[in-house]
Amino acid sequence: MDKKLVSIRGAVTATNDVKSITDNTAKLVNCLFFKNALTNADVVNMTFSTTPDITAFYPARAAREAGYDVPLFSCVEPNIDGAVTGCIRVMITAWTEVEPFNKYIGLARKLRKDLTDAYSITLDGPSGAGKSTVAKLVSGKLGITYLDTGALYRALGLVVLRNGVGTKDAPNIEKCLKDVKVGIKYQNGSQAVFVGDEDVSNLIRTPEVSMAASDVSAVPYVRQKLLSVQRDAAADSPVILDGRDIGTVVLPNAEFKYYLTASAEVRARRRFDELTEKGQSVTYDGVLSDVNLRDKNDMSRAVAPLKRAYDAVEINSDGMTAAEVADRIIADVTGDM
Ligand code: DC
Repeated sequence: MDKKLVSIRGAVTATNDVKSITDNTAKLVNCLFFKNALTNADVVNMTFSTTPDITAFYPARAAREAGYDVPLFSCVEPNIDGAVTGCIRVMITAWTEVEPFNKYIGLARKLRKDLTDAYSITLDGPSGAGKSTVAKLVSGKLGITYLDTGALYRALGLVVLRNGVGTKDAPNIEKCLKDVKVGIKYQNGSQAVFVGDEDVSNLIRTPEVSMAASDVSAVPYVRQKLLSVQRDAAADSPVILDGRDIGTVVLPNAEFKYYLTASAEVRARRRFDELTEKGQSVTYDGVLSDVNLRDKNDMSRAVAPLKRAYDAVEINSDGMTAAEVADRIIADVTGDM
């Protein structure tokens, strides 16, 4: 992909002391470099402006000390009635392959409510990594919507199975699903998945439907059909979505991205416990081989394969509880508010 010359903007608030200015400038610039996939060599220049109450230190010096050896400049803004105080703004002119990502942290989020009100958290990873448990905890604690996108693929997998269509038979899957409406309704705070008027939430958690969902999710028509359902859910309010391609394809410009992994054995053990608790008769070895097969399917398909977005933070949950993973994500997100 070719690099384009872009302007990237951001802002953060600080108190008027050297440490606060240094730490917050570094936090802002680190984030902008990470989200925009920048190295120093990509940057033409980086310009800071500060409100007149920031006098203890130059943010440009803070950036230099943080390792940003690029052309830097700082200046002071006029005193404007009602403006956010203690504010450090930055504009970076740089060459990048990705869509410019702007970042507003802390009280500075108020400056661009259009960009920051409907923030999204993406949580991708292989099956059994604990995504849905973590996503529910995060959604509950932050009071934001949770969309389990795997449930949408499962619902379509169920329809394909019910109609006796082969789960890899792309042309007939497209015919079978053409007029099928799949959607999400929130009832008492939890998500129910509907096919037409039928609530299928309780029918989509069997091993058979899991495998069908993995198969049909490789069909480009299926992925395209579910794209708008997922993007609509994230359009107007803060959300957390879990899935396989949320950070890479569905919401590539999401503000907070995570890639949750765990070893195949740990994931199989968790899935086994979950299924036996629900009274399903499965063996650990059977679940492990399903996990391995689904990983292979999900990672090797041609369209939107499972992979970490370049700007997703990877968390390996092997030695962590779901609550610890959720707390880690919540700390990041609330640290920005
Ligand atoms: O997360 P899950 O196990 O409920 O997902 C079921 C299947 O759906 C999974 O094997 C891959 C597919 N899927 C996908 O391809 N993209 C998503 N965003 C979510 C799920």
